[in-house]
Amino acid sequence: MVAIKHKNVRQELLEALKLSLETGGYISGEILSGKLHISRSAIWKHVNNLKRDGYKIASVTSKGYKLESVPDLLLPDELMPGLNTKMVGREIKYYSEISSTNEEGRRSAELGASDGTVIIAETQTSGRGRRGRAWASPQGGVWVSIILRPNIPPEHAPILTLLTGVAVARTIKLATNLTATLKWPNDVRINGNKVCGILTEISAEPDMINYVVIGLGINANITADKFSKDIRDQVTSLELELEHIVDRVEFTQLLFEEFEKYYLKFCCGDRQVIPEVLNAWRQLSDTLGREVKIETINGAITGRATDIAEDGALLVLAENGEVSRIIAGDCIYLNNRNVY
Ligand code: BTN
Repeated sequence: MVAIKHKNVRQELLEALKLSLETGGYISGEILSGKLHISRSAIWKHVNNLKRDGYKIASVTSKGYKLESVPDLLLPDELMPGLNTKMVGREIKYYSEISSTNEEGRRSAELGASDGTVIIAETQTSGRGRRGRAWASPQGGVWVSIILRPNIPPEHAPILTLLTGVAVARTIKLATNLTATLKWPNDVRINGNKVCGILTEISAEPDMINYVVIGLGINANITADKFSKDIRDQVTSLELELEHIVDRVEFTQLLFEEFEKYYLKFCCGDRQVIPEVLNAWRQLSDTLGREVKIETINGAITGRATDIAEDGALLVLAENGEVSRIIAGDCIYLNNRNVY
């Protein structure tokens, strides 16, 4: 696990190696040692650590070091420079493999992790989905959990999930120009197939939130063979839609920035952001106006999805005119025609 807070020697070394690519490639150990105020043998050690983490760096006695390639990983060293946020992702806990980033998020939150800390893993061995389901998490996805400590009443917490869906859909548009839609309660879809799931877990007292962990599972660079056969026709990935891979580092930076824009307003008590989020969600939704069947723990409800309420509940109008407010459940579309 790598945890990074501030720019450190390793990041400065990487920056110098990247800069030197623009001016010919090699940079000598002597220049690096002067720039970073550490010995040449310390430079050599840092270079070896970078190589161990997947950076390809050539070293030639008379010339020095040259960065040849950067690994396709969501390393904090790649994410943090150029990340334009105040708190989301200012502290990153990175794992090449973990059981579940949400599980680690809860553990870290209990131990006092700060607002905006993120947990990132290249793969998860027990990725968790909603309602106790498993979440397949092979290499190439963006599997991340954000720890939040919002100063909001617990009943406003569902807005955070809606806000996250909106941020993901916007990031997809900004990063790829693909149009993503939102399916209640919290699926992000492209061309009708799920590209991202969101799992929000909350620890709260009756009148205050201790912490929230928002887990995002984004199928970024995943090929069809990585999805199990039983879900292959219901899911997609950015790579499958675009027919090429995306830069996961750039995508994740944009995601943190989009999320934070809303979150900062929301957690600082700007209540105006609630109607703003609800309206954005309505516009991106492919649920409203549809005939739906919602399977809840108390049975199924069928009708037309008419709106979303401030507490995240879906309003469903049954044939007999009765309106149900549904807080949690699985949503099934009964036809593919959007009647609005
Ligand atoms: C869903 O069922 O739609 C929600 C899936 C959420 C998956 C993500 S992947 C990162 C984070 N860690 C987990 O164990 N789950 C969430």
